[in-house]
Amino acid sequence: IPVDPFDLVIFGGTGDLARRKILPGLYRRYYDGQMPEEARIIGAARSEMDADGFRDFVRGALDEFVTKRHDKKMVDAFLAKLDYVAVDAKGTGGWDALAKTMRDGVVKAYYFSVGPALFGDIADRLHEHGITDDDARIVVEKPFGHNLETARALNATLAAHFDETQIYRIDHYLGKETVQNLMAVRFGNMLFEPLWNAQYVDHIQITVSETVGVGGRGEYYDKSGAMRDMVQNHLMQLLCLTAMEPPSRYDPDAVRDEKLKVIRALETTGHDDIVRGQYKSREESYLEDVDNPGSITESFIAMKVRIANWRWNGTPFYLRTGKRMKERVSEIVVRFKEPPHSIFEEDTGQSANELTIRLQPNEGMDLTVTIKEPGPGGMRLIDVPLDMTFAEALGEEAADVPDAYERLIMDVIRGNQTLFMRGDEVEAAWAWTDPIIEDWTRREDRPYPYEPGSTGPEEAMILMHRDRRRWRELR
Ligand code: BG6
Repeated sequence: IPVDPFDLVIFGGTGDLARRKILPGLYRRYYDGQMPEEARIIGAARSEMDADGFRDFVRGALDEFVTKRHDKKMVDAFLAKLDYVAVDAKGTGGWDALAKTMRDGVVKAYYFSVGPALFGDIADRLHEHGITDDDARIVVEKPFGHNLETARALNATLAAHFDETQIYRIDHYLGKETVQNLMAVRFGNMLFEPLWNAQYVDHIQITVSETVGVGGRGEYYDKSGAMRDMVQNHLMQLLCLTAMEPPSRYDPDAVRDEKLKVIRALETTGHDDIVRGQYKSREESYLEDVDNPGSITESFIAMKVRIANWRWNGTPFYLRTGKRMKERVSEIVVRFKEPPHSIFEEDTGQSANELTIRLQPNEGMDLTVTIKEPGPGGMRLIDVPLDMTFAEALGEEAADVPDAYERLIMDVIRGNQTLFMRGDEVEAAWAWTDPIIEDWTRREDRPYPYEPGSTGPEEAMILMHRDRRRWRELR
């Protein structure tokens, strides 16, 4: 279904995110017929160039990042929708021209694909030049602050000119197909929700492991580390959607209210329940990648988190994420408790049910169930997977879902904030993260080294073994 006609301005339109994600994503939505003919995309950045120059830039981006659906005619038609205005965020240059370009009677959306230091300036300029209306939307990217204080300041800056209903804070993990499917599975079936609590769930694991290192983004990353770069936002969002109470409706505030309650119920994680790591071998090291030989920033983190509420009291959540690990995988594993009593004498192989929700790769779900091993050998039990890989269950085409960014941008145009973070959510997440990071700073805590291409430091395994549990293996 096509969205309403819009003018989408991308500040930082010639930047890396625009080139890799935003513009290719918009093209794919156009190709799939979701973008109305009247839609326009306006690049805005400091560089002096004309619309044709911007089109050349975008053509290059599409050639590089669009593999499926690349069609010359469609690309030309898409490029015809583009325009460009050079603007100076700190000065007055270009803003009158931008104001003239914007049309009345269409949805106006402004994507701030720039560093947070410019958010305030751009918001001020838009306001001064009267280019926004009550229905205009702004889209902002992480990092949304560096801690609670800076996040509050950013929220205040945006709130000076925009209502919360106009602000779309992107966490691209919320745009991933399986993340939404998590809600569908939990609240669209009778099967899971009655068991989704401390009485039946032993523990939950959330893993986001990456094979890439931090090369190229060293300067940003070294100031952030895995905690700020991944845990405070992406893993936190996955945790919230897994742990939250059923919202009364699938509606932006109903969903976000429930997520906020989870964050507020998080206990501060003690030092003993956290393992930090930094990849290091003779050939490749984090320290060289960030060009900071004394850095004690973590590129890996594993932690045990507790949610202090009725539903989850006694069921820990284990989170882990890292760069330069063995495998690229994002998944949530819900490990159920073992049956309270075994009636079988030869109780081999029987273990607890495990529901795995795979975000990437091979998006889908997998539930292990215990059955009798077929054959005359008596009552021997084995675990078998009930595997639902979307591509297999629904066909490759149905599983060829939009990338997170394209889905989220279309939601902005539709005015649906469900998959965007509300200001209070972001602040609550920082309020939980800050004391943990402050504690490391106080202790001058040093991360454990781990081999690139491994599953992280040994200590992360011990964190689990201590509780007589195991991480799901990275293959
Ligand atoms: C970004 C982080 O937000 O998410 C990166 O800044 C990380 O460090 C990326 O690599 C992971 O996203 P995805 O979609 O590739 O899992």
